[in-house]
Amino acid sequence: MNKPKNQKGISKYIKLEDYKVFDYEIPEIFMDFVINKNAVNVTTKLKLVKKNKNTKNLILDGTDILIKKLFIDDSLIEKQYYKQQKNNLKIENIKKDIFLLKIEGIIKPKENTSLLGMYESNGIITTQCEAEGFRRISFHADRPDILSKYTVRIEADKNDYPVLLSNGNVLKENNLTNNRHEIIWEDPYPKPSYLFALVAGKLNCVKDNFITKSNKKVKINIYVEYGDEKYVQHAISSLKKSMKWDEDKYNLEYDLSLFNIVAIRHFNMGAMENKSLNIFNSKLILANSETTTDEELERIEGVIAHEYFHNWTGNRVTCRDWFQLSLKEGLTVFRDQQFTADVHNSEIKRLDDAKFLRRNQFREDSGPTSHPVMPEKYQEIDNFYTTTIYEKGSEIIRMLNKLVKDENFYKGFSNYISTYDGKAATIDQFVDKILEHNKEIDPKKFKIWYKQNGTPKVKFKRIWDQTDEKLTIEASQSNPIKKNLYNDLPLIIPINLAIFCDENKTIEKTVVLKTKKQEFVFRNIRSHLQIPLVTYFREFSSPVEWESDTTFEEKFLILRYEKDFFTLSNTVKVFYKKIILCRLDEKPDHKIENKFISTLISFIKNRDINLSLLSELLSIPTFAEIESEMENLDPLKIYKTIDELNHLFGTKLKEELYFKLQEIETSLDKVWPEGKNERKLIETIWKLLLHSDDEEIKSKIINYVDSNSMTLAKAALNSFSRINCPERKIISNIFFNKWKNNSVVLDSWFSFNASIEIDEKTNSIEKLFENTYFDSKSPNTLRAILNTFVTRNSTFHAIDGSGYKYIAKKIIDFDKLNPIVISRFIKVFSRYNYYSEPYKSNMLETIKQIKKNKLSTNTKEVLDAIIE
Ligand code: ARG
Ligand code: ZN
Repeated sequence: MNKPKNQKGISKYIKLEDYKVFDYEIPEIFMDFVINKNAVNVTTKLKLVKKNKNTKNLILDGTDILIKKLFIDDSLIEKQYYKQQKNNLKIENIKKDIFLLKIEGIIKPKENTSLLGMYESNGIITTQCEAEGFRRISFHADRPDILSKYTVRIEADKNDYPVLLSNGNVLKENNLTNNRHEIIWEDPYPKPSYLFALVAGKLNCVKDNFITKSNKKVKINIYVEYGDEKYVQHAISSLKKSMKWDEDKYNLEYDLSLFNIVAIRHFNMGAMENKSLNIFNSKLILANSETTTDEELERIEGVIAHEYFHNWTGNRVTCRDWFQLSLKEGLTVFRDQQFTADVHNSEIKRLDDAKFLRRNQFREDSGPTSHPVMPEKYQEIDNFYTTTIYEKGSEIIRMLNKLVKDENFYKGFSNYISTYDGKAATIDQFVDKILEHNKEIDPKKFKIWYKQNGTPKVKFKRIWDQTDEKLTIEASQSNPIKKNLYNDLPLIIPINLAIFCDENKTIEKTVVLKTKKQEFVFRNIRSHLQIPLVTYFREFSSPVEWESDTTFEEKFLILRYEKDFFTLSNTVKVFYKKIILCRLDEKPDHKIENKFISTLISFIKNRDINLSLLSELLSIPTFAEIESEMENLDPLKIYKTIDELNHLFGTKLKEELYFKLQEIETSLDKVWPEGKNERKLIETIWKLLLHSDDEEIKSKIINYVDSNSMTLAKAALNSFSRINCPERKIISNIFFNKWKNNSVVLDSWFSFNASIEIDEKTNSIEKLFENTYFDSKSPNTLRAILNTFVTRNSTFHAIDGSGYKYIAKKIIDFDKLNPIVISRFIKVFSRYNYYSEPYKSNMLETIKQIKKNKLSTNTKEVLDAIIE
């Protein structure tokens, strides 16, 4: 493979194999921030201790910083002894082994639109240092294996910046002359630079506290923009739940007496775990049931938990280099998933997580940006905050947990924490600790999970010997991607299976596939079935795809016998897909359709069924779901088929749906988490009924858009998304007028409108960008419009290519402002190869056109992968 080279012929890639320890240690850092009207003066003193005695040079990372002066131990370094390049600073001829390097620099947060380093959001100065943002604030060995103790002084005008925050504890606070004030923060725990944070601005604080298990009082402060105070109770209770859970489950206690959270309007991602000063995207803090849906409430609780859990998995034990990113992210996702499973419904949570992984990670892994959980190279690390690193990383830990059993897992985990506390560790070291006292699993073989990319495929075949009462299951594994040499090695794959002998007799087992081909033999199987029925990967026990010899007849039986939520929903999905595929081929299979509809009716009639599960079973796949799994796809035809199916099912299930509607209506007012299953189901029912041309239901749904439950309001709004009728406009206007001054909520309105197909052209979408309430600096709004348009609006796929061209223009424009958001979004084109003509050529042409422009390195790296 040809590696891209830069002008000097050096490979642009950073590689895992090139890892080298830094020549110096930097045990202490003193930073001084003087915030002025148009710039911030940053003076940094780094205490450097030479490790590599052979070096006389020092190279530090630094981008877009104006250097005023440099000193070593208070003596000025003359200009000829240092060199500032675009991204670094090189100082030569350093004779001392231990010294204090003082750098006086100036940065301009107001001009920074990338939302990396130090920037301004609604008048508030804030920072985002992960992964490599610190170097835009000051010069430093900006890599996670350099751990330092930080002391930070911040000085600013009292009126403009009344609140001044950084990591750790407050050491001192003073009023200065000229209406200015200063504050000094000290963080006792050494940390890498990516965990540094600073916030300055007009913020209100909501206070609470938590008593830890060893009776220590932790002050909790949540900082929000003026007027947002009433929306923080959910965040506070989520944080306290998380603190308690980590003590109970992992025996991990919070280690400082202060925990701050700040909510920021303009934020690239969800949130950031800076030591004791978590910074969040406002939409993941500000919440109550009037403004936030049930799903969002659960997500917010999960993200707050996630960032809090990083305090141990990420902060106290950090990553040696960015190839180890999943060490903290995969593990912390695993922990936040466990948390949500424990505080809500574990079966539903497992179903949701499996669905998310299969929809997003599998899509990524079958496309051009597919990469191992431990990538071997990268150009721009920000491009690797992916669902593979996060969610597949978590799945690998879930398997590890399953393989070694709970007792060993938690023992290994504590050993890992105590061994690497205050240090930077690797994924290898983590796996070794978990497997330390286990003889059955070879760590070397297990670690192949981290090096493979692509979704592994497992095949099953049953061999039934009725006379001997013996069932043999032949299993084999393979990986569809051949380029990566590790993909040829067998993985260790835990398989949860159930053998159904008849309705009342089920055998549940976990078997472990360790080689390419393996046989599992089960004896004394007494079955009345022609051949015992087997379900595989129950609870989605491994992140793989599989194929078996189960017939459709048998799949109907699975829907009768199975209890596992994941398997039920997966089986239903197989039917939907089959039905859609036949219709796309213009050969509808009415026999299967009718039998499937009868099965759905029996699910609806079953009064014991979990209603979230029922909603899942009644949800016809969306375009995005189908898109991620098909080849040679004709997008407009898919949209049409899905609409047809909604119409058909809505019509055929009408009577039962109405019956269910009545049954659940009385529970809709319950306070979250109560009533959430009912509310989830109602959206599914509304959507189906609307698609059945039911006029009566329309006025009923419209009443809910003004409801004091945001879940119901949005359900009402969204169920109209693909129904072309005057009521759709009415409902949209009601929502807009009610929420136009709440930017977090209004994003849902932008999203809804981006899904509406008013005409064949993109004019209506452009109107959203022209709306007075559109804030071009807000990634949330940008994502709300762009993502919805490309996944839920068929206009994007207009046959003349105008939708693609339109989006290309947006990509080019917004890449200049915010490369992180655009480099992620551009993956919408990554499956162009799976489209039929003319879509495929139109997409390819568009990508080529985009490539001709001056783009950010982030976006360029992704585009290069899409068209090699
Ligand atoms: N560590 C953060 C989290 O997962 C994500 C930060 C991502 N930032 C970035 N620039 N890629 O909680
Ligand atoms: Zn994280």
